Amino acid sequence: MEKIDLRLGDAVELFKELNDSSIDLIIADPPYNLGKDYGNNHDYKEFDEYIKFTKSWISQAVRVLKPTGTIYVFMGVRFVSYLYHILDREFQLFFNSWIVWHYTQGLGKKKGYSPRHDDILMFTKSKRGEYTFNLDAIRIPQKYYRARNNMRGANPGDVWEFSHVHYSNPNRQNHPTQKPEGLIERMILASSNEYEMILDPFSGSGSTMRVCQQTNRKGIGFELNPEYIEMTYKRLNQPFNGFDSIDPRMERIPNDLRNMEIREEYLMNHIDWFLKNHKKSREKFIKTVKDKYGLTVDQSIFDQSSSIEHKNNLELF
Ligand SMILES: C[S@@+](CC[C@H](N)C(=O)[O-])C[C@H]1O[C@@H](n2cnc3c(N)ncnc32)[C@H](O)[C@@H]1O
Repeated sequence: MEKIDLRLGDAVELFKELNDSSIDLIIADPPYNLGKDYGNNHDYKEFDEYIKFTKSWISQAVRVLKPTGTIYVFMGVRFVSYLYHILDREFQLFFNSWIVWHYTQGLGKKKGYSPRHDDILMFTKSKRGEYTFNLDAIRIPQKYYRARNNMRGANPGDVWEFSHVHYSNPNRQNHPTQKPEGLIERMILASSNEYEMILDPFSGSGSTMRVCQQTNRKGIGFELNPEYIEMTYKRLNQPFNGFDSIDPRMERIPNDLRNMEIREEYLMNHIDWFLKNHKKSREKFIKTVKDKYGLTVDQSIFDQSSSIEHKNNLELF
């Protein structure tokens, strides 16, 4: 099951085509108003105009979100405090998390601290307990085996490190602000269930749509630039070899797994729990297990352990 629906046009207008309370999860990565070049649209508005634009798309987002739904909004530091105010005070959504997406490379500042993060605000439409949050789907491996630790994994917290998709990465698209798939994967697995409907109103190179396609979610993407829509169709038809990025903590294998029985059982589960959509990291896993515990792992066991059936073809509504 995979259904991806790409719509060309201005998000504020396209929202009007969607019914009230029809979307389970919104992942919005709007232009940050920092003057980026998005081809047919330039990302620069006067302050008041940008705030007005933000309020107009958010009012539509709130309307289409189901009562059990969640919205994540990416933002740069310049506007994030205004965005928080809009979501919290003006639209009365419920604050859940202020996520910091940390990356290690970027522009250097001569006077002041070089920026190394973007912010992501997560709000829900209903109060605590009435929205989807699948913690088990997004846990990260523990550092050490300890009887008191939950070896199913730890909560990843609200500081997430993912590197940008570099030009050397085969999945790099010709888009100035392509987001890492691993980062979107975490939001989708946590805040939606299979076959639910995800909306990305500023779809860009199609990162959200690609993750929806590979995790059995339905996706609607809006985008103003027809070239990016074309780019997304091509991307969705590429063979899938794992998502293009991963939180480095997902690649760790706990130390001190001394008890053989526990170790074997744990290692059998590790890939299914943490590396299902990350083929390259599975290869690393096999090497690390050998280095750390002297075990030779038959790769085919782990290839079979993945329960996700990956999709390579695009099916439209
Ligand atoms: C920050 S980028 C999104 C990048 C995307 N998350 C990715 O991973 O590729 C914002 C996108 O919004 C598009 N855009 C700008 N204004 C828009 C509008 N009013 N309606 C729809 N799309 C718009 C831009 O063309 C750009 O591709």
